Amino acid sequence: MKIAILSRNAKLYSTQRLVDAARARGHTVRVLDPLRCYMAIAPGGFRLRYKGRELAGIDAVIPRIGASVTFYGTAVLRQFELMGAWSPNTSDAILRARDKLRCHQMLAGDGLGLPLTVFGDNPDDTEDLLGLLGKPPHVIKLNEGTQGNGVILAENPGASRSVIEAFRGLYANFVVQEFIAEAKGADLRCFVVGDRVVAAMRRQAAAGDFRSNLHRGGRASAVELSPEETETALRAARVMGLGVAGVDLLRSRRGPLVLEVNSSPGLEGIEAATGVDVAGAIIDLLASRPGLAKAGRRGSRKAGPAATRAPRKVAATDGKPGRAAPRAQSRRRGRG
Ligand SMILES: Nc1ncnc2c1ncn2[C@@H]1O[C@H](COP(=O)(O)OP(=O)(O)OP(=O)(O)O)[C@@H](O)[C@H]1O
Ligand SMILES: [Mg+2]
Repeated sequence: MKIAILSRNAKLYSTQRLVDAARARGHTVRVLDPLRCYMAIAPGGFRLRYKGRELAGIDAVIPRIGASVTFYGTAVLRQFELMGAWSPNTSDAILRARDKLRCHQMLAGDGLGLPLTVFGDNPDDTEDLLGLLGKPPHVIKLNEGTQGNGVILAENPGASRSVIEAFRGLYANFVVQEFIAEAKGADLRCFVVGDRVVAAMRRQAAAGDFRSNLHRGGRASAVELSPEETETALRAARVMGLGVAGVDLLRSRRGPLVLEVNSSPGLEGIEAATGVDVAGAIIDLLASRPGLAKAGRRGSRKAGPAATRAPRKVAATDGKPGRAAPRAQSRRRGRG
């Protein structure tokens, strides 16, 4: 199988791991910077070129498109789709997932639990909007925020109003949510590949913080999901139409609540915390597609059960030295 990984940086842990897992299974793989792919669109056919050369014969694409290049990156992915390549996450699904309000509406529309969420446009409506939520604490989130940045806990009505006014003054888009206190600063990252949760970790916020993001000092450890949590994660990915997704859940009194569905979930934290070969699972998902499987066996260069091979050390995403190799793959852990 000829695989293209759309990624801005071939040295990132996730990208490297996918390259290694693909090669170990005998596939041909290339990392393409989406911003260097350019295209010709005509009724007679679609063409893609890369640094002066034609891109052709790609069977499958793994999009690792960062939020800052969503628009161009999904246009490139769409061109690949029109040329017959398969992607576990389509351009449309990625666009849907990137729109947080839409994501919340789709999940709730399917009956999935999520923290009660409100948003509005006009300052005159703030009071009534907050009334819909009930008493503070409230969590106010910038739509463009990531890694816990722009996620604020407002503990009294005055604090909620002043944060909202400040965000409005900056013309920022945000949502306001009920605070799920019983989650106690922890969330669950469920890594969905196809119809399985292949790995799951619990992230616990640092003392004094309610945000469990690893970038905010949160600690990750492998976790066993309940059947309800597994089902919720699988359903959330299915509703968003994502074949590969990082579904974040909060444990609440009324069951698992979906916080977010990420269409380009990182591999480093989850592989380190669980020891699961998540990259291998993603490549295996591509190979399980009818018509793509056969290509994988052709020209297999490296022997051995690729799924259990330890990855070589690669550059970490955060400037730290390459993280230790995942432990032997456990297909059972976190499985639904
Ligand atoms: N409604 C809530 N109640 C309790 N804790 C919350 C709530 N919303 C978020 N948190 C905590 O704050 C963390 C960060 O929130 P969230 O994941 O929504 O934003 P983000 O990580 O900045 O955005 P993204 O996940 O899109 O990168 C969560 O992982 C969770 O630990
Ligand atoms: Mg998050």
